[in-house]
Amino acid sequence: MKIISSPQEMKAFSTSAKAEGKKIALVPTMGALHDGHLSLIDKAKELADIVVVSVFVNPTQFGPNEDFDKYPRQLEEDAQACQQRGADIVFAPSANDIYAPDASTFVSEEQISQYLCGQSRPKHFRGVTTVVSILFNIVKPDCAVFGEKDAQQVSIIERMVRDLFIDVEIVRAPIIRDENGLALSSRNKYMDRLERLGATRIHNALVEAKKMIETENCDNVDRIKAYVINNIANAKARVIYAEVVDAKTSLPVSRHETGKSRISVAVWYGQTRLIDNIQI
Ligand code: PAJ
Repeated sequence: MKIISSPQEMKAFSTSAKAEGKKIALVPTMGALHDGHLSLIDKAKELADIVVVSVFVNPTQFGPNEDFDKYPRQLEEDAQACQQRGADIVFAPSANDIYAPDASTFVSEEQISQYLCGQSRPKHFRGVTTVVSILFNIVKPDCAVFGEKDAQQVSIIERMVRDLFIDVEIVRAPIIRDENGLALSSRNKYMDRLERLGATRIHNALVEAKKMIETENCDNVDRIKAYVINNIANAKARVIYAEVVDAKTSLPVSRHETGKSRISVAVWYGQTRLIDNIQI
């Protein structure tokens, strides 16, 4: 496995691999890799000859008061994990390599991004769509794998790819959880063991809501939202949003339709912002 930091070198590698008829899959990440990220590598390996994992803590997707500075950075460990899992390339550029000092061009999706995380993180998705476009232009992948842990993010990327006729197949991979149900996230590192245990109430509430919906045949979105909020909120957990959304587009729906909806939540658990969702 090779670590590449220069975008020029990455481009040259991809150009020659493609000339040889090789198929490339990209797994975009911000590093601090866990089993959720590594499951995306497994999926990518099924789909392509060459798997590129990008590791880049993207400054443009963090708000001014967010955790950009304290976000965990551990390239050596990450590269080792990628190698063990069978990735071919780790692409780890620096921020200066990606953004010119006077960079003034952004890619923004303007419908789905208005809701859910877009409300509390106003420029977040603009940063995501911009950096993913940049990564697509450098790596030139045939396909890219994204986790449904960030369901709204993957909906936005699918919309971007459709709207801009970008030639990359977007592949979704399921959420990986710890033994207690907490969705794996690089931000779980901000919590101690007890907090991580407490935060499992988020997934538990989603599972309970799903059961309630099935046993009571409930399609009332307000009732579902209230049920989820009541089951999560406590002294430690503050719900930022709980929404019933279309499973594919992540846009809020006014009635739940069996098999087509998802409940998405964001929660402040102590000092840590967590998101999770469940298909219903
Ligand atoms: P990051 O949070 O590092 O996540 C990288 C990828 O891993 C995303 O597609 C995310 O959905 C997936 N992922 C994270 N936790 C997961 C879990 N528990 N199960 C399955 N997949 C999981 O998302 C980003 O980085 C950035 O916004 C990025 C797309 C790289 C752009 O900067």
